[in-house]
Amino acid sequence: MSTGPLAFVDLALDELRRQGVFRPLRVIDGEQAARASVDGRTVVNLSSNNYLGLTTHPVLRERALEAVRRFGVGTGSVRPIAGTMALHMELERRLAAFKRTEAAVVFQSGFTANAGTVASLLGRDDVIVSDELNHASIIDGARLSRATIKVFPHGDAAAARAIVAALPRTQKTLLITDGVFSMDGDLGALPALCDVADEFGCLMMVDDAHASGVFGQQGRGTVDHFGMHGRVHVQVGTLSKAIGALGGYVAGSRSLIEFLHHKARPFLFSTSHPPSVTATCLAALDVLESDSGLIERLWDNTRFFKAGLAALGLDTGRSESPITPVIVGDAALAMKLSDRLFELGVFAQGIGFPTVPQGKARVRTIVTATHTREDLGFALGAFATAVEELGVARAS
Ligand SMILES: Cc1ncc(COP(=O)(O)O)c(C=O)c1O
Repeated sequence: MSTGPLAFVDLALDELRRQGVFRPLRVIDGEQAARASVDGRTVVNLSSNNYLGLTTHPVLRERALEAVRRFGVGTGSVRPIAGTMALHMELERRLAAFKRTEAAVVFQSGFTANAGTVASLLGRDDVIVSDELNHASIIDGARLSRATIKVFPHGDAAAARAIVAALPRTQKTLLITDGVFSMDGDLGALPALCDVADEFGCLMMVDDAHASGVFGQQGRGTVDHFGMHGRVHVQVGTLSKAIGALGGYVAGSRSLIEFLHHKARPFLFSTSHPPSVTATCLAALDVLESDSGLIERLWDNTRFFKAGLAALGLDTGRSESPITPVIVGDAALAMKLSDRLFELGVFAQGIGFPTVPQGKARVRTIVTATHTREDLGFALGAFATAVEELGVARAS
């Protein structure tokens, strides 16, 4: 119980409990895997972003261990002082080749890649035109930049165009969208936004955190998926999801990357990745580029699971990716559904406001390449039982 100046935190927590949305952290006892031990119970895990199962891949483990033996466990410095190792440079060359750009720069996380990049590219006199469901790291970067923020309705490129058309042509403008939206699993309006950017000379940026390793040739992301190479000035990706380790990166022109080396505050002021993380990411790229079966299995599982949820008549929104929400509306009901699924042996997190809009609470599911058909069938059975018991409304 906090007293004095911190008493407000207890009041806030009480309010969350009253609304039925207070969530203790779930704890994984062993590996982050398709079947995992969570809070002491073995469950089918539909909550991770471990799309390709690389968190436990033997090649990645081995390369991480080898890097620890050869280079130690840390870098001891930020990148621009003494924290740049040859491994970092090699990873950035590989990421640039992967994204088919001139250069790339790695950040500590996808969050810092987005926030640091948006905040350094834009300033007080500029405008950011942003999809309403863009990730929090984009929103925070936009706020830090002090630019004017204009939000367009989700996926509505015509509305984005109307906003841009009303701006003075001389004003520096960034158009920005997620490639895949993390809570809905649908794709951003990238081709139409690129048309707007070309027409008005805007900077075009996409956050492909959930698309890298999932969409496009060998997982190159939505820019590749939509054939938009050369039309997106700033491509952000993460190393924390399909790649299985940790980090974020920006891929683009060499000048853009050199600019970020000098201006992006997380790059300038926070210590670089340990060699093991960097070596793991390099190994992940080797695996991605040599084993197309992983991405095929991810998509086979995605189709199978989506068809199963559809057969149950659940509202899965507009998902086009391995992220499939089961939208129930009320936040307390979403948490109850998640808890009941957990009792039945399925880990699928309940998500409410402010992560998703009020009245759009959901249980979010993410399948991976490493789920078996048995895992997914079991999970669908648990959904059937839980939605029946809780009286969750069906879409059809
Ligand atoms: C769309 C999107 N962008 C960026 C991030 C941040 O990536 P990271 O977890 O690597 O910081 C996330 C992660 O939750 C995300 O969903």
